Amino acid sequence: MSSEPKLTILFTRDEITATVKKLAAEIRQDYQDKHPILIGVLKGSFVFMADLIRLLDFPLEVEFVRLSSYGGGKSPGKIKLVQDVQSKIEGRHVLVIEDIIDTGLTTTFVLEHLGKKKPASLKLCTLTDKPSRREVTVNIDYLGLTVPNKFIVGYGIDWNERFRYLPGIYAMEDEG
Ligand code: IMP
Ligand code: MG
Repeated sequence: MSSEPKLTILFTRDEITATVKKLAAEIRQDYQDKHPILIGVLKGSFVFMADLIRLLDFPLEVEFVRLSSYGGGKSPGKIKLVQDVQSKIEGRHVLVIEDIIDTGLTTTFVLEHLGKKKPASLKLCTLTDKPSRREVTVNIDYLGLTVPNKFIVGYGIDWNERFRYLPGIYAMEDEG
């Protein structure tokens, strides 16, 4: 059995709250008259999405997509859509909500998938970005926090389904 992972705080709950407020102000500016559909990428984005939409006081809709990736480990293998949006997004302004962009492969898959449905516009908001591991270029329209090349958990983001409940964001230290 391996020992419990050691967690080191990267961003406190207060720092995250300030970041979500900043993003909400930017999104409000651009979308308040557009009745957008915010599409969260499950599961990691649900805590961020919940805090974000409560700072947006204009008409909007919420949808979720869910993906699975085979191959295991920390990098995604073959990506597959397991839950699609339920409403029609053709002609609508769509904002994808991500928890983390790492290699960029998942987000690219999601954007390509949604783009085929012909939304009026398609933009990307991510709470965290790990640019050090990028494999494909991703254009981020609304960026919260840049994280170092470490595995992070908390605020909805998991390690093997653990630690989503943590109010802050933590780096998992390598064992050894
Ligand atoms: P991608 O590498 O950008 O395709 O990210 C794929 C998925 O890997 C993300 O949506 C997360 O679910 C997961 N992921 C990547 N980096 C981390 C991390 O540091 N902590 C937790 N999950 C991560
Ligand atoms: Mg994700």
